[in-house]
Amino acid sequence: LLVDKGNHRHFMEKEIHEQPEVISHTLAHYLDFAGGTWRPLDMPFDFAKLDRLTISACGTAYLAGLIGKYWFERLARLPVDIDIASEFRYREIPLAKGAAALFVSQSGETADTLASLRYCRNAGIPIASIVNVGGSTMARESDLVFPTLAGPEIGVASTKAFTCQLAVIASLAARAAAARGTITREEEKTLIRQLCEAPRLVSETLKLQHRIEKVARELAHVRHVLYLGRDTNYPLAMEGALKLKEISYIHAEGYAAGELKHGPIALIDETMPVIVIAPHGRMFEKTVSNMQEVAARGGKIILITDGKGAEQASVKAFETIVLPDAPDLIAPIVYALPLQMLAYFTAVFMGTDVDQPRNLAKSVTVE
Ligand code: G6P
Repeated sequence: LLVDKGNHRHFMEKEIHEQPEVISHTLAHYLDFAGGTWRPLDMPFDFAKLDRLTISACGTAYLAGLIGKYWFERLARLPVDIDIASEFRYREIPLAKGAAALFVSQSGETADTLASLRYCRNAGIPIASIVNVGGSTMARESDLVFPTLAGPEIGVASTKAFTCQLAVIASLAARAAAARGTITREEEKTLIRQLCEAPRLVSETLKLQHRIEKVARELAHVRHVLYLGRDTNYPLAMEGALKLKEISYIHAEGYAAGELKHGPIALIDETMPVIVIAPHGRMFEKTVSNMQEVAARGGKIILITDGKGAEQASVKAFETIVLPDAPDLIAPIVYALPLQMLAYFTAVFMGTDVDQPRNLAKSVTVE
């Protein structure tokens, strides 16, 4: 299989730009855009009868799963246990009847995730996997595969596979909610409509690249960056930090904004950029008060928000990146983009090997 960079400098850049198309392609596997309905799935378990969902994965795929926990619990009232596969596989977790397992992996070959899958197989619970590589070991060993149709991902730092994983998980959570009767038929229709909007919003967000490049120019001179967010923006903060450290080698941490005063606030001074992910909506005011705490200590705030958020934030940010309005369900898909682009341009300015960062492997098939 031959994949080239086309007109792009790096595979990562190409893969970032492919997202509207591959997300659309992936979603079309799960729903009928024109009819506004789900496509049938041959499920090994019934969402309506499930007591728990256990998710396990590594790296970026784990963070997609963590966002899924918020969606499944809020929308479908389905309790989710989630853990990093290298911990999950050794923790001797009791898995009750009524549970199903969900694994998330781009490659379908990550050693720890595969070992977790086999642990669940031994426990006798149904197994589903979200994988990008069709014939992979995880795909073969699962009762059901939920494919992401991101196409081959060459850049070591995952981008399009992540947003496609989110698209699949968001669809499954909405579908689970419908099956469990925790949303009305009208709400279900609205969620389907919102999912269909994701490719367009991602495409609009890509147009912000010059603005983001400008911010990245600043980041290329710092040693530490803190990312903050609440709710689904908390796993996203961790993903933003992971992307930056993977390819630019700048030390970055993602934190739940509410946890700021339990430690990271001690780090804040004039040299420390703090990237706050805060679309307007349910957690906005809470996050703004965390921004105030950062501002009061001279921290440089880079706010990633939408039009209303930019207008309502009562704190002066050093830089503000304004995204299109995105419905709650798909906001994490849209907000992943500026984080990817920030990491990408920062790495380009620093001159690192973006597609092949030092010490990292695309697929970790040994423990
Ligand atoms: C490696 C890659 C990451 C990826 C993780 C999990 O660390 O560099 O980009 O998120 O493995 O890989 P998987 O193939 O299981 O998604």
